[in-house]
Amino acid sequence: MKRKDTAAAEHVLIVGGSSGMGLALAKRLLAAGSKVTIVGRSEHRLLAARQQLPQAERLRSIAADVTREDEVARLFRSVGPLDHIVTTAADITGVYVLLPEMDISIARNVVDSKVIGPLLLAKHGAPVLGAHGSITFTSGIAAYRPAAKGSVVAAINGALESLAYALAIELAPIRVNVVSPGWVDTPIWDAVAGAGKAAALNAMAKRLPVGRVGRPEDIAQAIQSVMHNDFISGTVVHVDGGQRLV
Ligand SMILES: NC(=O)c1ccc[n+]([C@@H]2O[C@H](COP(=O)([O-])OP(=O)(O)OC[C@H]3O[C@@H](n4cnc5c(N)ncnc54)[C@H](OP(=O)(O)O)[C@@H]3O)[C@@H](O)[C@H]2O)c1
Repeated sequence: MKRKDTAAAEHVLIVGGSSGMGLALAKRLLAAGSKVTIVGRSEHRLLAARQQLPQAERLRSIAADVTREDEVARLFRSVGPLDHIVTTAADITGVYVLLPEMDISIARNVVDSKVIGPLLLAKHGAPVLGAHGSITFTSGIAAYRPAAKGSVVAAINGALESLAYALAIELAPIRVNVVSPGWVDTPIWDAVAGAGKAAALNAMAKRLPVGRVGRPEDIAQAIQSVMHNDFISGTVVHVDGGQRLV
């Protein structure tokens, strides 16, 4: 397939597009003229996202759980040809605990959402991508600045990056990359920190060289750039305000 020369001609699938960084990316790409399909498990969250995205004629939403192969296969049967696949999906509810409290079934679900899900997206998505297409995963700072209670999150982010390196070889010329965010103010923090969200983010902002935590748009901008640069493959792009250094 010939490379699309303008954003207006491209179709991008964003798994996780109903919230946070994925939603910010959907907004950005729709504003640039792209056709966008957003995916998440909850119809309710997809509907709420649609209400924030005015370009209904170029927007589609599909409910699917990326941890389930039957649902991922069904997704790609219905979505049509794609130029780029992005996933920001993660469900890390209940996994930020010390080992004695860890419920291994919850840990397995987290691994499924962020390692098996991307693997399934690559398996079923690569065949519908053009030769100039790309896949972008979202890892995270926990792989580089591990903390107590963060063992599973550190592991999934590290594993996801290694998966991307291998897929960049196996799926070439399709490009496979990762964007690794630092702490970003999104709804995921409601699950992680609850009422302590603002205090946690403010404390981190004071530590960071850039003096603030991330905004979803910061990550969306980086994903868009990686997605469109034909010479980036097998790369992790850190968008963390310098958090790896402090
Ligand atoms: N925010 C941060 O500070 C931060 C820091 C480092 C790394 N990250 C990583 O950045 C990525 C984006 O985070 P975010 O803060 O934007 O998260 P978010 O606001 O919680 O959004 C997560 C999205 O993923 C979807 N999702 C979750 N599990 C899914 C599944 N099994 N199948 C399909 N969709 C699923 C959610 O929709 P449903 O719930 O409806 O499925 C939602 O649309 C994540 O991978 C996260 O681990 C975040």
